[in-house]
Amino acid sequence: SVSSSKLNNGVSIPSIGAGPGGADDVRQMVEDALKIGYRHIDTAWAYQNEEYVGQAIRNSGIPREEIYLVTKLAQLHHVIVQEALDISLKRLGVDYVDLYLMHWPQAIDANGKVLAPDQSPTFVETWQAMEKLLDTGKVKSIGVSNFSIKTLDILLPHVKIVPAVNQVEIHPLLPQFGLREYCTKKGILVTAYSPLGQAHPDLLQNDVLKQLAARKSGTVAQVIMGWFIKKGIVVIPKSGNPVRLQENFSPVEITDEDEAQIDAIHKAPGLHRSLLTKYHNPDGSVFGWSYEWLGWP
Ligand code: A2P
Repeated sequence: SVSSSKLNNGVSIPSIGAGPGGADDVRQMVEDALKIGYRHIDTAWAYQNEEYVGQAIRNSGIPREEIYLVTKLAQLHHVIVQEALDISLKRLGVDYVDLYLMHWPQAIDANGKVLAPDQSPTFVETWQAMEKLLDTGKVKSIGVSNFSIKTLDILLPHVKIVPAVNQVEIHPLLPQFGLREYCTKKGILVTAYSPLGQAHPDLLQNDVLKQLAARKSGTVAQVIMGWFIKKGIVVIPKSGNPVRLQENFSPVEITDEDEAQIDAIHKAPGLHRSLLTKYHNPDGSVFGWSYEWLGWP
């Protein structure tokens, strides 16, 4: 079985989770993942699949407390933090989640408009509302997602509870070394979403990774998962396919030398890649605050 990491409150989190965001049949996907041995499921209100995740957990027959369940506060819900959690719990059909994350450090209003950085609720106010959830017993831990060094620097002076997790996009083409180091110093565990770069050929067909995979009689995805395990970064690959789910749950062992080779991949010209750029409007303008403001590359 797969290893686990410790959060800053002493709770264990399984190192590899299943992110059902991308699958067509989420219920089937989560059932498959639980059969394979995954015990960490990552969802969000925004994915509109919490109901299916909950059904899969019940269908599996696995006791609720053996599954590490994560969901996220939607940007639309920063004004109703308590209710938003209740909505998610109801959809999931559970009494508590193991981890509740602020999905983005920016709220949007009922008209879909992104609030300005100084408009209430700011992400600091939203975090303070999330801290109160811990007393309800409905969340075991709280954390954030898509926070950069810049936005964490704004948040951290105001917190009573340091976020347990910051979930961000990380893969060998966007390794986020600086952010990782920063979070480690602050006691924040990093979770990587889109660890396979959404299956982009620049990553899955990369020669360095292909050679390592061949040498270890594994696949590129198994090498990438091994790289995350080596670094102590929790990882939540998405796949709707049982064979690839199994593959992603079976990382190959990565040595210091392999790790150094993979760490260098993003330095090759043209290989830096961030999915965050997809959050642009069709005309190329930025959705919400500029990514420069948010502190993203
Ligand atoms: P599929 O669902 O058909 O397996 P990410 O988690 O980086 O966002 O990537 C998700 C994408 O990667 C999905 O398109 C998924 O397709 C594909 N994928 C997931 N696991 C693997 C794997 N082991 N090998 C190749 N592609 C994969």
